[in-house]
Amino acid sequence: MTENTDQEPVRYTMMSRRSMLAAAAAVSAGAAGVAGFAAAQGGGPSSNSMSAVVTGSSRGIGAATARRLARDGYAVTVNCVVRRDLAAGVVREIEAAGGRAVWVQADVSDPSAVRKLFDEHERAFGRPDVVIANAGIMRLAPFAAMTDDDFDHMFAVNAKGSFNTLREAARRVRDGGRIVTLSSSITQLRSPTYGPYAATKMAQDMYASILAKELGDRRISVNAMAPGVVNTPLFTDGKSPEQIAGFVERTPHGRLGEPTDIADAIAGLCSSDGAWVNGQTVFANGGIV
Ligand SMILES: NC(=O)c1ccc[n+]([C@@H]2O[C@H](COP(=O)([O-])OP(=O)(O)OC[C@H]3O[C@@H](n4cnc5c(N)ncnc54)[C@H](OP(=O)(O)O)[C@@H]3O)[C@@H](O)[C@H]2O)c1
Repeated sequence: MTENTDQEPVRYTMMSRRSMLAAAAAVSAGAAGVAGFAAAQGGGPSSNSMSAVVTGSSRGIGAATARRLARDGYAVTVNCVVRRDLAAGVVREIEAAGGRAVWVQADVSDPSAVRKLFDEHERAFGRPDVVIANAGIMRLAPFAAMTDDDFDHMFAVNAKGSFNTLREAARRVRDGGRIVTLSSSITQLRSPTYGPYAATKMAQDMYASILAKELGDRRISVNAMAPGVVNTPLFTDGKSPEQIAGFVERTPHGRLGEPTDIADAIAGLCSSDGAWVNGQTVFANGGIV
């Protein structure tokens, strides 16, 4: 574990000996990877040396996505802001399954921390093929009761944090790669108390459609993934069983989404089959909207 000692936010990385060896191999193999894939498939991440950054992947949708991408052959950088034990646990699970991963603590709302997150990823695995801007928080209240702190924090993490991540992705993702940012079906449901949160998620739809145009000449596909209600603390914390049941009733498939449902949909966008889906908001929500 290394600790940053300058004035930047404290940031930790942890790599096992095994992942360091694997990372060294990946970096040396990295240069040829994407070019090889692009030539064979007409655009898409390399199958030899693929790597992915997933922000907010200590738990929930991000952790499921990190595990899924690792299973698909990506070397993954897992990220957290607080729960370092959980992030380290996701890395251990990936390694136990034969994959490669490191974890980096970085607050996505801080541009310099995000730059260092990507620097750490490149040190371990080379330039990323895939970036998932997943880190997010949710604070709910009617307009009349929303506090300045909750509003500011949500915009700092969700709107600015995603922007910080997408800006680094735009600079660093390899040609033919994929970028996915996490939106939400709440932009369509528009339920009371969700106003500012929904606004931060609508921003993701705009980011994806405009960034897709900016990166088109590099054959990078950029999309927003819009889950419905997913069984994670972000959704369930603070809700009564009756409130949760109400959302389940409105979902034609009759259950909450699981993090793996969203991870599977994201993995589809990141696969070679997903190359032509570009600049879209993709709804994965069991039909709730
Ligand atoms: N769950 C749903 O129903 C749902 C529906 C639609 C969209 N979404 C979106 O999906 C994404 C993931 O949500 P989730 O339900 O999986 O949430 P979650 O279980 O609460 O996990 C959130 C993740 O984000 C990380 N995070 C929070 N603030 C961060 C920051 N400032 N910098 C870096 N990482 C940070 C957390 O890290 P720590 O563990 O260190 O705090 C955690 O890994 C969010 O963008 C959310 O808006 C969720």
